[in-house]
Amino acid sequence: MNLHRCRIVFAVGSLCVMLTSSRAEVTGPTAYGKTADGTAVEQYVLKNKNGMVAKLITFGATVTELEVPDKKGKTADVVLGFDTVAGYQSEDNQYFGCTTGRVCNRIAKGKFTLDGKEYKLAVNNGENHLHGGAKRSLDRVVWKAEPLKDKNAVRFTYSSPDGEEGYPGKLDVSVTYTLTDKNELRIEYAATTDKATPVNLTNHSYFNLSGHGSDTILDHELTIPADKYTPTDEGLIPTGKIADVAGTPIDFNKPTKIGARIEKLVKTPTLGYDHNFVLGKHDLTTPIATVRDPKSGRVLTVYTDQPAVQLYTGNFLKGQKGKGGKVYKHQSALCLETQHYPDSVNHPEFPSIILKPGQTYKHVCVYAFSAE
Ligand code: GAL
Repeated sequence: MNLHRCRIVFAVGSLCVMLTSSRAEVTGPTAYGKTADGTAVEQYVLKNKNGMVAKLITFGATVTELEVPDKKGKTADVVLGFDTVAGYQSEDNQYFGCTTGRVCNRIAKGKFTLDGKEYKLAVNNGENHLHGGAKRSLDRVVWKAEPLKDKNAVRFTYSSPDGEEGYPGKLDVSVTYTLTDKNELRIEYAATTDKATPVNLTNHSYFNLSGHGSDTILDHELTIPADKYTPTDEGLIPTGKIADVAGTPIDFNKPTKIGARIEKLVKTPTLGYDHNFVLGKHDLTTPIATVRDPKSGRVLTVYTDQPAVQLYTGNFLKGQKGKGGKVYKHQSALCLETQHYPDSVNHPEFPSIILKPGQTYKHVCVYAFSAE
């Protein structure tokens, strides 16, 4: 090719890139709807230069949509959710995309003792407490939000009064979602308190890398480089043991299809995968989980600074209708919830989740997407 033709090809190529790629931007707030008690809920939209889009609402500081390109550059919305606030407030909402807390996961019998005082929490899961309570848990309240345009981020804040859902202390929480041009949704949490109190926050996004409403995630291939987990009893409360994954269906040290061994778990109390993995030595540059979808080629890689991750394979999904009328059948999505161990408040041998006045709770979770 002579130099002149080469220049023309280059110019046309650059024009195509300019036409197909977009700029990173934050839009919002825009009105999303109202809660049953009439509180306005707002939406923010983050876009990056690769066409990835994250939609977020102030109800529960929730991720409602995540448009991710596949290996051909075609995007699909890979998270479960609803189209309306009423959907998010309905019985069909099993914590889709929300910020979960003050303490995510379970607390045995909804009780704990701190500095000699017993605290009683809502019992909303059999005889136990789940995901921060029944009425004013962090997923059910409307947060304040501000766009951080120069960072392509939105910061949500909520001040939970002393005693809310039975937890001690006024807790000031922030969750910042950033969409990077490396196709990462970065979630950064911070919290401070005026009394010692337990804190264990997570994001509860349900992923199906073929797109929400697709078939089950049993063909997704999962890797979790972890040698240990916290076995649980019939109520999914940790027994206190830290057990080896080796020789069990919970060993994902080698890439394995989620469906390969799940049958061995369906008759156990977890009904499938619902296990908390103890993460070995890691930092924010070491993947703690990788999920590959053979159909779309999409890959989700998870990074965190937390000591554990809960793998949940949508065993309680019941065929409810979500966004665009799509049906969310049993095991049609998975959650990888970065967090501390469940019921840590009742297990002094587990890493502590007690936040004291003067300290700041911090947690980073990165959901990074690629395609191959
Ligand atoms: C998960 C939990 C499951 C179930 C689900 C919500 O985080 O591990 O047991 O409670 O939330 O339906």
